[in-house]
Amino acid sequence: MGKGYYIRKHEAMAAIILAAVALVTIVALSVVYNREKSRNSAKWTNASPPAVNPTRKASNDPWDKYRLPDTLSPISYNITLWPRLQINSDGMYIFTGSSKVLFTCEKETDLILIHCNKLNLTLFNGHHANLTERSKPGAPRIRNSWLQVETQYLVIQLEGSLTPGKSYWLHTEFTGELADDLEGFYRSEYMEDGQKKIIAITQMQATYARKAFPCFDEPGMKATFQITLIHDRGTTALSNNLEASTEDIVIEGVPVTRTEFLPTKKMSSYLVAFVVSDFTYIKRKDNNRVLVRIWARKKAIEDGQGDYALNVTQPILEFFENYYNTSYPLLKSDQIALPDFNSGAMENWGLVTYRETALLYNPQMSANGNKQRIVTVVSHELAHMWFGNLVTLKWWNDLWLNEGFASYVEYLGAHHAQPTWNIKDQIILYDLQRAFAVDSLTSSHPLSRKEEEVNTPSEISEMFNTISYSKGAAVLKMLSEFLTEAVFAKGLRNYLQQFSFGSSVHSDLWDHLQKAVDETPGVKLPYNVHEIMNRWILQMGFPVVTIDTRTGNVSQRHFLLEKEAVVERTSEFNYEWFVPIKWMKSGQPQDQLWLVQKSGYFRVNYDQENWERLISQLEFGSQVIPVVNRAQILDDAFNLARASILNITLALRTTKYLIHEREYIPWEAALRNLNYFIKLFDRSEVYGALQAYLKRQVKPLFDYYGSMSKNWTMVPDGHTDQFTQIIALSLACGTGVEGCREITKGWFKKWMQDPQFNPIHPNLRSTVYCDAISAGGADEWNFGWQMFQKATVAAEAVKLRAALACTKVPWLLNRYLEYSINPEKIRKQDATSTIGYIANNVIGQPLAWNFVQANWEYFFKVYGTGSFTFSSLISDITNRFNTPFELGQLKRFQKDNAETGFGSGTQALQQAIEKTTAKIKWLAENKEAVLRWFLAESENPPKLTGIPHALT
Ligand code: BES
Ligand code: ZN
Repeated sequence: MGKGYYIRKHEAMAAIILAAVALVTIVALSVVYNREKSRNSAKWTNASPPAVNPTRKASNDPWDKYRLPDTLSPISYNITLWPRLQINSDGMYIFTGSSKVLFTCEKETDLILIHCNKLNLTLFNGHHANLTERSKPGAPRIRNSWLQVETQYLVIQLEGSLTPGKSYWLHTEFTGELADDLEGFYRSEYMEDGQKKIIAITQMQATYARKAFPCFDEPGMKATFQITLIHDRGTTALSNNLEASTEDIVIEGVPVTRTEFLPTKKMSSYLVAFVVSDFTYIKRKDNNRVLVRIWARKKAIEDGQGDYALNVTQPILEFFENYYNTSYPLLKSDQIALPDFNSGAMENWGLVTYRETALLYNPQMSANGNKQRIVTVVSHELAHMWFGNLVTLKWWNDLWLNEGFASYVEYLGAHHAQPTWNIKDQIILYDLQRAFAVDSLTSSHPLSRKEEEVNTPSEISEMFNTISYSKGAAVLKMLSEFLTEAVFAKGLRNYLQQFSFGSSVHSDLWDHLQKAVDETPGVKLPYNVHEIMNRWILQMGFPVVTIDTRTGNVSQRHFLLEKEAVVERTSEFNYEWFVPIKWMKSGQPQDQLWLVQKSGYFRVNYDQENWERLISQLEFGSQVIPVVNRAQILDDAFNLARASILNITLALRTTKYLIHEREYIPWEAALRNLNYFIKLFDRSEVYGALQAYLKRQVKPLFDYYGSMSKNWTMVPDGHTDQFTQIIALSLACGTGVEGCREITKGWFKKWMQDPQFNPIHPNLRSTVYCDAISAGGADEWNFGWQMFQKATVAAEAVKLRAALACTKVPWLLNRYLEYSINPEKIRKQDATSTIGYIANNVIGQPLAWNFVQANWEYFFKVYGTGSFTFSSLISDITNRFNTPFELGQLKRFQKDNAETGFGSGTQALQQAIEKTTAKIKWLAENKEAVLRWFLAESENPPKLTGIPHALT
């Protein structure tokens, strides 16, 4: 046992055992956290002016603190809301509402604090609310009340005290704006049959329920919700639970429908949802179980776009019932696709909301990557129905456990629905390697934060980041594997049972897992679950484990992208981890190849000889090494080289075997690392030689898929082969493989000649559109734009929107940047990702950077301070930075906007500075060697030795 880690030795004596690897491939569709938020303008920020108190200085007063005191706890809400889907005489869309919340007094107090934001409250006898005791009159009178804008409270001071143990009703009436700002109760618009349609929807997580009705808006403050919606006749109202009654009535002379819902189970306010729309649905209800419905625009449902989601929902729900050993806790499961939606999807209990691309599938228009996205998002959100919703983490500092857990088990649920897709392996691409990329910076942070560190809405929203999602998923997968899946599931089930309808902290889960370990004979850990996990969640980063095969010595150290970086954040564990590690050996003792079987959250380095053996094994018999390991060898080698731990030419040599590689996961891993190189060099002299090398490496893959697909007229059967086919085409066209561009341009031209008939297979559209628009001019662009505007399938619209950013024509790119912030042209939900696409283009990058710099203040005002989007915006536009000049620009940008601030982009900016600094240093030391290597390679084409892959 080495210091600071533990090792499970597993020596497979003879040869490396090779599982018969089914042809696996996958999708490259990234799970883009495309979160955007926008705040609506000034009008509603100053609700009821005389009683608002924005000027009080921050103090120790309870209303200046962001956390609620523990004096009161809610029991139930009775809420009626009436969204107006027509513009009013002030030119606004509004909703009106009334709410009664029943709460218990836990500790004596003469103060009521309840969250309330941007609501205009009606006054009762000069006060913002009315208070009564539950069973009889006798509540203290209100002395004073006001809205505390900064902390988003309605503050009510009483003349006397509330009595512990007694319950009270607080009644409020209010008006709010039904803005198009994607938060709280908001509106979404779309066109149908030439007519503009408006729907009203909600997004409460994390701190927007208070914008729909006054509430104790903390996840630990669970209550039941009885919701009633007033809505236009002919529209449907949905909420978390089934409807109890509907009635046509007339209010204020307006004929409307009143839909009352059954009270919910005890739940957190951030999971409340309601929707008013004229959507339609498809449903399924098997043997009297849960009612499952998929809702969307009428045209989309009629077109069959909801069918796939409906088909996978049932098996996924059954999978999780089994996995959690708990029945689905509610009567129904609605899932609804919305034209305007900030994130990908939201796990409202019983009424899950989605972006259209995350729920709707059309086999004629959607790629298999879109299909995979749907099954994984559905699985992720349904996983939350238990983990997150039935049992909720008490406070947002533990968000990583909620999101990391769902991000791990989404693979299990999706695998159950699509068992032939080998989807579980993809966690290494979409979580493990993605998390490594940010967690190797000194500006990273630990998974878990202290409760007191997370307070304001923007601190809360900063928690929704790659560390929480992807590192969370990777670390939990590692935990589940070293405990064994059976022990993990056992502990998990007991945890869910103990905390059902309540809330917990992360160590409660560790307690139950430890108990499960203790109760299972044969499972022994050298340390307990808390001790092991604390090292992974309380300190940032991860180790690189180095195996010296000559001595058998194993050591670890904190992996940092920048060799000389100074780690300012201290760790009580001294940046040492307990690393569960297994390896395989093959060959004779004097000539052994060692390979770490890695499923954990760490990188692996070997001594030089073993690296040489790995490289030659890749070149002369790669199939001996499991697919996932091939991807990891590549990714580790490149990243060790980026951190100057390994020679860059050695990393480059791991890509030589790609001429034999036909599998998706290694190709995708290679592509990402090579893409990093492309971005590093596409403005320098290295680029030509790099392109020539890539062209040569991808040629066999291009030929292979060309012949397999009968000259690109068919797609392969295998799910992941379809992804590899896309890589083959896009890399071949991108590097100028003869015959490639002709194919893609030909297809696009055919489509332009007959826009009614698109001859391009949906899988290949992203690549073909991008290629053709990049090679073309204004005609191709304008055609693409027209098709974008006409698209009725969201998946098709995204492909076009991304491809429009591929043009090389500067004025088209600049015009497109302008479009991106015009909601008439590009939906607000898509603004930042569109700018990101433009920045991804080498010509568009400086234009996008200038555009964002010039408009930073405006963006910040319009899109608010709390959201996720700023982080991806900043990382997208600075992704290519690698010169001292660019670093200077970045720093100036930081300085110039210090006053406006960067909100949830603050960390991303820090990361950008750190990454740019690291790249500058790295280039200074390695650029020459890289150039020489590529040049030498292009002069010495490979001998095609080695064992070609079987074609099955
Ligand atoms: N709870 C989140 C949605 C969310 C994210 C709300 C950020 C508020 C702020 C949901 O469960 C989620 O994680 N959605 C992902 C998709 C998922 C498959 C990773 C998303 O929106 O991207
Ligand atoms: Zn989630």
